[in-house]
Amino acid sequence: MNRIISFDTVSGILVCQAGCVLERLNEYLEQQGFIMPLDLGAKGSCHIGGNVATNAGGLRLLRYGSLRGTVLGLEVVLADGTVLDCLASLRKDNTGYDLKQLFIGSEGTLGVITAVSILCPQKPKAVNLAFLGCQNFSQVLETFTTCRTMLGEILSAYEFMDEKCMELVEKHLKLSCPVRDSHFYVLIETSGSNSTHDEEKLNSFLEQAMTSGLVTDGTVATDDKKIKMLWSLRERITEALTHDGCVYKYDISLPVGKLYDLVTDMRARLGQSAKNVVGYGHLGDGNLHLNITAESYSHSLMDAIEPFVYEWTARYNGSISAEHGLGFKKKQFIQYSKPSEAIFLMQRFKAMLDPKGILNPYKTLPSSS
Ligand code: LAC
Ligand code: ZN
Repeated sequence: MNRIISFDTVSGILVCQAGCVLERLNEYLEQQGFIMPLDLGAKGSCHIGGNVATNAGGLRLLRYGSLRGTVLGLEVVLADGTVLDCLASLRKDNTGYDLKQLFIGSEGTLGVITAVSILCPQKPKAVNLAFLGCQNFSQVLETFTTCRTMLGEILSAYEFMDEKCMELVEKHLKLSCPVRDSHFYVLIETSGSNSTHDEEKLNSFLEQAMTSGLVTDGTVATDDKKIKMLWSLRERITEALTHDGCVYKYDISLPVGKLYDLVTDMRARLGQSAKNVVGYGHLGDGNLHLNITAESYSHSLMDAIEPFVYEWTARYNGSISAEHGLGFKKKQFIQYSKPSEAIFLMQRFKAMLDPKGILNPYKTLPSSS
């Protein structure tokens, strides 16, 4: 199921089967001057059907928005074998309820996505990357507001990682960071249509960030090879973590100003019982990846982390799963982010669409008993 069904070069609308690999789709589109509206570290192996079923966020959500906006239609096989053909290729369609939204992010619990219609943006003519070092998290935040003001419409990613992440990427993957020792690193990408204009904007932003002391060191890339190298420092953190021991993973949405306080509080709480407590993620989207490593799995460490991490998140009206879904590890904590009325309605949808519980069973929703 990896066939491209159609691509319209005027509207930028791609229709393809669910088994297409994200990176292959992107390569196909690039030949026609377009790109996929999402990008993530797993692009070489993940399928578009899975991306949609989990509502994957990734590295460019800041620019192109969520799949809830870019997916225009779906073909879905329901639990009783019905093929639901809602594979529309229209930007606007207000005919009744928007059923595709039920399946986007439902983690395969309501139907099996078999084809996708998706709106693809133009491939940017000019891409620049800046990899910068900041000494504290307030500078990371202030750099974000400054670059939003000064880069405006060309900003396409704003990612951050702490020094612990950098240590792990250097130690386990033997990558080397060109930026001098900093407590935090930010990766800023611009994508636009005019390289002179974009570079001018980026340079005046960098000058402002450096002279005001927001940023202490940094490097800029315009060629593909260096861009890839800098992106890999950020994209491969997850991989580096797997080499560090047993990993406890959390994917949290929070008001952006509060984002790193959870890491600091968790580090203080766990002390020596954790090997590393690291924070990184999609700062521009208010999405923190909090990861804790230890030599091996321990119940007492788990008890120190949960439910503390969920209570902390709920206190600031955050989400306990920003982009990775609930699966079965987090389904019993859904109530920290959703009221009981919403969970009840979700359970009714599940019962209606999958009365025998055969679609990705035991995932996403707490059992109703
Ligand atoms: C990332 C994955 C973990 O952002 O979502 O690297
Ligand atoms: Zn992520």
